[in-house]
Amino acid sequence: MKKATSLFLVAVLFSSGTVLAQKKKTAVSADQKMNTYISNLMSKMTLDEKIGQLNLPSVGFDITGPILSQGVEEKIEKGLVGGVFNTYTPAAVKKLQDLALKKSRLKIPLLFGYDVVHGHKTIFPIPLGLSATWDMSLIEKSARIAAREASADGLNWTFSPMVDIARDPRWGRMSEGSGEDPYLGSLIAKAMVRGYQTNNLSSRDAILACVKHFALYGAAEAGRDYNTTDMSPNRMYNEYFAPYKAAVDAGAASVMASFNDINGTPATANKWLMTDVLRKQWGFNGFVVTDYTGIPELIAHGLGDLKTVSALALNAGVDMDMVGEGFLTTLKESLKENKVSMATIDQACRRILEAKYKLGLFENPYRYISEERAAKEILSDGNRLDAKAITRASLVLLKNNNQVLPLKGNAKIALIGPLADNKRDMIGNWSAAGDWRKSVSVLEGLKRYAPQMEITYAKGANLVDDAHILKQINNNGADIVADEKSPERLIEEAVSAAKKSDVAVVVLGESAIMGGEATSRTNLDLLPNQKALLKAITATGKPVVLLLMNSRPLTLEWEDANVTAILETWFGGTEAGNAIAEVLVGNYNPAGKLTATFPRNIGQIPIYYNHKNTGRPFDGNELDKFKSRYIDSPNDPLYPFGYGLSYTTFSYSPLSLNAKVMSPAGKLQASVQVSNTGNYDGEEVVQLYIQDIYGSITRPVKELKGFQKIFLKKGESKTVTFSIGINDLKFYNADLKHVAEPGDFKVYIGTNSRDVVGSTFTLVK
Ligand code: BGC
Repeated sequence: MKKATSLFLVAVLFSSGTVLAQKKKTAVSADQKMNTYISNLMSKMTLDEKIGQLNLPSVGFDITGPILSQGVEEKIEKGLVGGVFNTYTPAAVKKLQDLALKKSRLKIPLLFGYDVVHGHKTIFPIPLGLSATWDMSLIEKSARIAAREASADGLNWTFSPMVDIARDPRWGRMSEGSGEDPYLGSLIAKAMVRGYQTNNLSSRDAILACVKHFALYGAAEAGRDYNTTDMSPNRMYNEYFAPYKAAVDAGAASVMASFNDINGTPATANKWLMTDVLRKQWGFNGFVVTDYTGIPELIAHGLGDLKTVSALALNAGVDMDMVGEGFLTTLKESLKENKVSMATIDQACRRILEAKYKLGLFENPYRYISEERAAKEILSDGNRLDAKAITRASLVLLKNNNQVLPLKGNAKIALIGPLADNKRDMIGNWSAAGDWRKSVSVLEGLKRYAPQMEITYAKGANLVDDAHILKQINNNGADIVADEKSPERLIEEAVSAAKKSDVAVVVLGESAIMGGEATSRTNLDLLPNQKALLKAITATGKPVVLLLMNSRPLTLEWEDANVTAILETWFGGTEAGNAIAEVLVGNYNPAGKLTATFPRNIGQIPIYYNHKNTGRPFDGNELDKFKSRYIDSPNDPLYPFGYGLSYTTFSYSPLSLNAKVMSPAGKLQASVQVSNTGNYDGEEVVQLYIQDIYGSITRPVKELKGFQKIFLKKGESKTVTFSIGINDLKFYNADLKHVAEPGDFKVYIGTNSRDVVGSTFTLVK
């Protein structure tokens, strides 16, 4: 290196060193300032007021249970409430904040929480759909818009992101997360936290994130909500923990304990999880809130009476009690009996006050409350445009025979199905503040984007006919009324529309209320009345495009074998109809990829791509009896993780590695050339998978380790290169140490987790 250059470098390093030191100093003094402020405040607080900060009642519109919180306003005046949830709009928030600031002794501002899960008023696709974009900037943008709208509406805390890895589509909450993969799930968790919190929590449009449900909620046995989880620590660390940790690393200000029992100790009372893993190993320094009535539910779990379980939760590391009021009503007595310590109560109280301080609430408790901003920000044209772009990117093309999609400009379309002209279901479950009346149906979207097309609409079937399911979902707001026409008549009309058309587009799936919390199912076929409609339409011999709306993978073997094309649209949010129409008419070429495996049948569940091998892997020979397989079904899924087609086609060259050997400090470049060989410009998510062939413990057959979403013009080729480093090869070994073991690895690149090109390399010591 030349002397002048090296001197210059030294100078740069030195000055960046001083900048860093300066930054650190500022952070330390900001922390000191906060600590002094809070210590001073706490020195004035009574025990009741401290315990009051740990209390989170629900006020207003309650969506996850009966309204249990009583006398909240009076409690706020007495300083017995730390925050509330389910209250929003500037006026409603101001009313309660006024009570805290004008009537309570110490005037401590309240937190205002809410389930802003996939948008506040401008609703984005359900999170499972969002994840299918594989686009971190779009996902972050959705969270940013959600935070801007929510904060304008008086909120300062969202119960999101939900990052539970889920491998069981029977579980209705799969819709709320990002699917089955820990690597992708981690990137999404980070993007969401950044979107909500920005890098400055005290800015007017940032809100606290709450990563949930810690932990392993997605592994509920038999896919039944709230059910037990029993899992080896090894599996937890290698397959389930990463997205929670990623959210913590990204600075998530709060964590929500999950409802479920984990290896004998429900998360809410689980000290190992809440303190050893979360705080000691991961360095989390925010606050932990229970889930809805999580503390009293420990009684039914069988851990003791309310006083006992409240003390258990606090001692485990829980800081805030959502709705349960176990802390409020029993901690004082437990303190007297030495079941909890003053230091533990103080610590929990301090953590909640710190969150308020970081939000800037002590400086200006009304910082979020502005009718003007609400009117300007909420459901703005810009937000809706962004939502449309995000929704388009979430759509996954599962099948497209004879290139029936995109629809030809002059085609006669029969638009059929109970979800075809439906606004109510478009915003999906957990669109808590969303107004379905503001959403766009597929029929409306098609009329807008294909005004020249002749479209005949026929409902064809009720969304749900099954009396048993209907009773339950209507009780939860589905509002489904049976059509006055008989089911037979509805089908007849649809068949006659299909016969007169060039293509039938049939929009089927679940009611939005059939997904989300407490919606486990044991059958994932299309509902029988919808299937009957689809069969009748297919029997006309016309090309059939099946448009699906659903909260989870469904079992679609018959559909895959019998319809011409399938487009998975999840529940796409406020702009669903416009986004879908743009894809149908070819204004946008779909590029979404599945983030959860679609099984062939329910018996294959749990099914996921990153499984282990057995000692007797199945090699396709059905007469070879003693292999790990079913005698009545293939092992492989209908659509694998990472799968999704495009209107164009892509070809992959063989994989090339720049070396066959990698040293621990080195990097390896794995490349393929991807070519757009079809007739449309398009995007492709190029995926990198690695397998550690021999390990000190068994390792999955493949793990996602990278991906790039690229755009290729028709006829264009690009070389896509992934850089593989030691961190991509690490896993938690039998001692839960994060290590990379020297030896042979397979590396794969492909269009999904099944269709890949591969090579091998060796990691040396
Ligand atoms: C859900 C949480 C949610 C909370 C508050 C619970 O029932 O499990 O995900 O954040 O309610 O609404």
